[in-house]
Amino acid sequence: MITDFPDLPLPLPDEKDVLAELAAFEGTPVIPKDRRRTVFPVITKEDVFTMLLSANARPEKVVADFAEAYRSYVGAAYALPVASGTASLHVALVGAGVGPGDEVVVPAFTFIATAQAVVAAGAIPVFADIDPVTYCLSPAAAEAAITDRTKAIMPVHVHGLPADVAALRALADRHGIAFVEDASHAHSAKVGDRTCGAFGDAAGQSLMADKNFPLGGEGGIAFFATEEARDRAVEYLRRNGIDYGMSWIAASFGASQLKRLPYYDRIRARNAAVLGDQLRETGLFSPPVVPEGSTHAYNMYRIGLHPEAVGLDDLPVHAVKEAVHELLVAEGVPAREWQNTPIPCHLPFRHRQGFGGGWPFTLNPAAARDYTPEDFPAVTAMLESTLVLCRELRSPVEYERLARYGQAFAKVARRPDAIRKVVGDRKFPLPWEKAARLG
Ligand SMILES: Cc1ncc(COP(=O)(O)O)c(C=O)c1O
Repeated sequence: MITDFPDLPLPLPDEKDVLAELAAFEGTPVIPKDRRRTVFPVITKEDVFTMLLSANARPEKVVADFAEAYRSYVGAAYALPVASGTASLHVALVGAGVGPGDEVVVPAFTFIATAQAVVAAGAIPVFADIDPVTYCLSPAAAEAAITDRTKAIMPVHVHGLPADVAALRALADRHGIAFVEDASHAHSAKVGDRTCGAFGDAAGQSLMADKNFPLGGEGGIAFFATEEARDRAVEYLRRNGIDYGMSWIAASFGASQLKRLPYYDRIRARNAAVLGDQLRETGLFSPPVVPEGSTHAYNMYRIGLHPEAVGLDDLPVHAVKEAVHELLVAEGVPAREWQNTPIPCHLPFRHRQGFGGGWPFTLNPAAARDYTPEDFPAVTAMLESTLVLCRELRSPVEYERLARYGQAFAKVARRPDAIRKVVGDRKFPLPWEKAARLG
């Protein structure tokens, strides 16, 4: 049996290597080229065996058993397993009562599927700015975006940090609209002892391969607070002849992975804490902020840059970020931007063809706006001054690798001269002046 498991941990870094020349300037990288790949999820004999046994059961039962086990883990009242996260958001919105021509307030920073699910439901996404600290939907900005045609707000627990659930719930209640969660980054994320996915009138969650709780390939699940909402979603699919069903193969893989989820969660939390301490010591970098009472799931780990801490505040912050990005990648840290423009600046929201002929945007022209990046100052500030790690904290990422990431950040932070040189040698466009990327 061959499993795709790493053979050896990296050696612990040598402390004095932090003083060595940067890899981008002909030095030795902190992580050698052939040791950069990380493996997730780990596929074991148990996964394969569970799948083989499931082949003997009725497919609907395999899917229903998985959905029930995960619903109970999340603590939501009702669940509907589906083929993808996008499908889960679509049915969550429909279940919450969203229909053609309605407006749904969504954050301008998320993955494009959040907004496209609104379009799939025949409604118009209305974009609002994020909180500059948590990067989740700002309750004040969401409130300002509400009109008498707003049917729901759909915050995203972005990167895996719960949005301000209390404020957003209160806002929805005050306006008599639905509160729908996009919990696609937030498996096991919590506020107090309650898990994301169980807060809203409905929620959607991706279970695709790049998520903290992956079903192998593609998958998703919607949660509902009431039977009526779940039934509305089921009836919608039936009436429109839409098959969004989850595959039994994905479900059986999920059943064995679910038992491992608490272990994955602990390793990610530990890795995030270790890296956080290392980043704080550099001055140039800061880890994500986690409000008191929240548990961050760290599907992504967004790192702040503070050029003023190393005397680089005379340079444009986005150029410092780009230079630091290049220097880190050369050291073997797979940092990335993850989004380079506000979502409403992606093509589908600029041309607004929708499903053809402009539907559903034509149903409510007042809500179909031309947005610019400048409409979302908190999103643009974040895009200019932060970098992201994604899979790099996930089990089985070893302590030694984390220590090396920390060393690479320290190595770059102690070389403002090198950062200044890269900035001086190049002309970096603003993030949103580059072609919009989906991830
Ligand atoms: C925030 C968010 N919402 C929705 C989705 C859509 O999920 P899927 O790709 O499973 O359709 C994703 C996927 O990456 C996501 O990141």
